[in-house]
Amino acid sequence: MTVQELLTVSQAKLRECGISDPVRDARLLLADCLELRTQNLNLLDDSCISEIKISKFWRMINERCKRKPVAKILGYRSFWGRDFEINENVLDPRGDTETLIELILDCNFDNMLELGTGSGAIAITVLAERPEVTCVATDISQYALNTARTNSKRHGVESRLKLLYSNWFDKISGSFDIIVSNPPYISSKEYAQLSAEVVKYDPKISLTLGGDGLEAYREILSQAIEKLSKNGHIFLEIGYTQANAVGHLFREAGFQQIKVHKDLGSRDRVISAKAS
Ligand SMILES: C[S@@+](CC[C@H](N)C(=O)[O-])C[C@H]1O[C@@H](n2cnc3c(N)ncnc32)[C@H](O)[C@@H]1O
Repeated sequence: MTVQELLTVSQAKLRECGISDPVRDARLLLADCLELRTQNLNLLDDSCISEIKISKFWRMINERCKRKPVAKILGYRSFWGRDFEINENVLDPRGDTETLIELILDCNFDNMLELGTGSGAIAITVLAERPEVTCVATDISQYALNTARTNSKRHGVESRLKLLYSNWFDKISGSFDIIVSNPPYISSKEYAQLSAEVVKYDPKISLTLGGDGLEAYREILSQAIEKLSKNGHIFLEIGYTQANAVGHLFREAGFQQIKVHKDLGSRDRVISAKAS
C-alpha cells in the first residue's frame, strides 16, 4: 500500500467514526509512524510502506476512533517550542497556557513555585528559558510528578527543579519570587459538557475539583501571600468566564496590583497580582 492510498482509507475511517478533522489527524499519525515531518508526506505519495508500519498506523487510527486525542496517541505535546512527554496521568498542556509563560518571562526573579505541575510543562519551560532560576513544583499525583521528572531530564533542567508531592502549600516552606498555577478550574456543570476526548483521556483531578470550579483558587489564595517574597508576583490561569469571581478572591486575600491578562484569542486567561 502507498502513502496516498493509506491516507485515503484511514481518513475515510476517521470520518466514519465522527472525528472532526480526519485529514489532519491521519497525516499527523502517519508522519509520526514513518518518522517524518507532515509536510514531507507529500514527497512519498507513491512510496510503499512496510507491513509493520501499516499495522502500527492502524492501531493509532483505531485509538483515535475511540476519541483518544492525537497528542496522547503520539505520547508528546509541543509547548513553547519543546516536546513534552504526556500520558494518561497528566493534562495535555494547552496552547492557552503559554500566556502564563509569556508573563513570567517578563519578570526578574530567582526562584519560582509551581502548584499542580502535571507534565511539568510550565516549570520546565521557565527553567529552560532562564538558566539562572530554580523552581519547586508540586502535584497531588505521584504519577504526574514521575512524568514531570522524565520531562525535566529530557530538557536538562532536573538539577534546578525540586518536585514535591504536596496538597497545594502543605509541604512548602520558604518564600518565592514567583508563584504560578494552572489549577483545575472546571465547574461540575461544565465538566458534564466536556468532549469525550477530554473526559476519557485527561485525569479528572487535573480538570475539576467539582462545585463551582473556584475551590482551587480559594485554597491557593488563602495561603499564597505569606509564601511570596517582597515584590513577588503570583500568576494564576483562569477559565475565560472566571475573571470577576477570581479577581474578587484576590482582593479578599489582600493582594495588590491585580491585573487580568488575555490569551491570543483575546479571552481572559490569567490573573496576576503582587503581595504588596
Ligand atoms: C490543570 S492541571 C495543570 C497541569 C500543568 N501545570 C499544565 O498547565 O499543563 C492541574 C494540576 O493540578 C494538580 N492538582 C489537583 N489538585 C491538587 C492539589 N490539591 N495539590 C496540588 N496539585 C493538585 C493536578 O494533579 C494537575 O496536575
